[in-house]
Amino acid sequence: MPSAFQWKPEPLDGQGAPFTPVKIEEGWLPIIKHEANYPVEIFELILGELVYHPERNSTSILRADILYDSSTSDDDDDDNADTPIPSQSKTYEVEDYQLVRRVERLLLPRNPNIDKPLAQTCLFYRSIPSAAAAADDDQDPASLVIYLPHVNRAEDVPFYHPPVAGLGFLYTPSSRTISLSLLLLPDTPTNPLPTRLTRTADALLRTIHKHSLGRQNGYQKRVHHDLLVPRSLFQDTYLTLKSRHAKHLFENWVERTDPKKHVFEDLGIAAFLGGLWTEIYGRGDLASAKERVRFVDVGCGNGVLTHILLEEGWRGYGFDARRRKTWAVLGETAQANLREAILIPHLIPGASEVEGEGFEVEDGRWEGDTFIIGNHADELTPWIPLLGATSSCAWVVIPCCPHALSGAKHATLKVGEGGRYHAYVDWVEDVATRAGWEVEREALRIPSTRNIALVGRRRWRKELDVGEEGAVAVERVIGEEGGAGGFVESARKVGGSGVRGH
Ligand SMILES: C[S@@+](CC[C@H](N)C(=O)[O-])C[C@H]1O[C@@H](n2cnc3c(N)ncnc32)[C@H](O)[C@@H]1O
Repeated sequence: MPSAFQWKPEPLDGQGAPFTPVKIEEGWLPIIKHEANYPVEIFELILGELVYHPERNSTSILRADILYDSSTSDDDDDDNADTPIPSQSKTYEVEDYQLVRRVERLLLPRNPNIDKPLAQTCLFYRSIPSAAAAADDDQDPASLVIYLPHVNRAEDVPFYHPPVAGLGFLYTPSSRTISLSLLLLPDTPTNPLPTRLTRTADALLRTIHKHSLGRQNGYQKRVHHDLLVPRSLFQDTYLTLKSRHAKHLFENWVERTDPKKHVFEDLGIAAFLGGLWTEIYGRGDLASAKERVRFVDVGCGNGVLTHILLEEGWRGYGFDARRRKTWAVLGETAQANLREAILIPHLIPGASEVEGEGFEVEDGRWEGDTFIIGNHADELTPWIPLLGATSSCAWVVIPCCPHALSGAKHATLKVGEGGRYHAYVDWVEDVATRAGWEVEREALRIPSTRNIALVGRRRWRKELDVGEEGAVAVERVIGEEGGAGGFVESARKVGGSGVRGH
């Protein structure tokens, strides 16, 4: 039964904090709020849809042309970004929030004789866990979506858009409320605000509330937190790691990429892994886990995750086809344990052919107590459960850009309501399951939209454990998935000239 729709907003009229850190002198005014009896994922899902369908808010809008969407642009490794962000885009720093998605859109009017198109930047943020949030064990991150129209004066705003410099929609988990704040343009009267503005604000928040309630019924929760590592352990460890490493990493950042994105994500992943390993390898005892496990961070990129883990006393190494500038500033332990090497899985026919081509090659065979990490490891992601199976090593993958076993972009995903990303995670899970793994899934508390971790630490069919039968099962999966043809060539390209000569 759909819930009865009720709309009882609380006008804020500029009172109260808009979203925590944005100061009132910057012009953000909280306008309206409403209770929200649905989880934050639904709010984000609906906002994600409304960004693509602004016509649901106004009959004067024909549609939006999407010029850029970071969640579909496959440029997770900013160094390799192949989809440029439009030059007109806007940015907005919100303290204690992490930008997780950027959409650039052009709003098109239904009647172009009356109205002009309007370019708009839409920024999706999640709050970064803070000490206050950790103290409240029930708190999910807050979710904030800011629309910034590309205008400076009220005269330039077409009629179908409120005459403001920005709109900020916030979901606050502690109070289970949604609210809307407006960033006013110069010369906007505030006492009182123009009725048109308050009416539009009411209509915009109402649409979000209505769609969210509608979606709640029959909504299948895809996001499951804290299944493998208890929330309090994760949060406490995260805060400790943040206090130990964040400042140093920010101060020494040498990449073109956004340090906020990498540092907070990697701190979160390191906190998660520490908890997981303590359980798997130490049965609750941190010291014995550290003694036993060795990690390998496959496709480690800038090496920050490897560095944090090493500094925390875990032992292991990271490698990547391309050395990064950061490696040189990470300190001695990291430098000794970061390698420039290409992974060519030994399961690929002809894998050994690349030996002697000037590449340092990893073949994906590791000792039994090695834990394989594939964090946004692109081409390598689906290989990790297969290599884990043949080496009898536990693993985690945090998938991002969808690649098939051939290394090419995955072209045959069955994309359902959860979108392409979830379809890819499902596919990787399926590959791992067919290779004999009992796959566990955790939505990591990291500020990223690609935050699902798949973990393999148990085999669901003992007879598929290492050995001939296990290898046969893995080979069968590779065959069923179209084979690995093309992987070696694509890996050579990933390495490029940087790896030759070693
Ligand atoms: C999206 S980046 C992620 C980097 C890092 N794990 C992170 O999350 O920041 C993917 C990385 O995988 C590396 N990679 C892809 N194929 C590889 C291969 N065959 N051998 C080694 N590294 C590879 C790329 O060079 C790239 O640095």
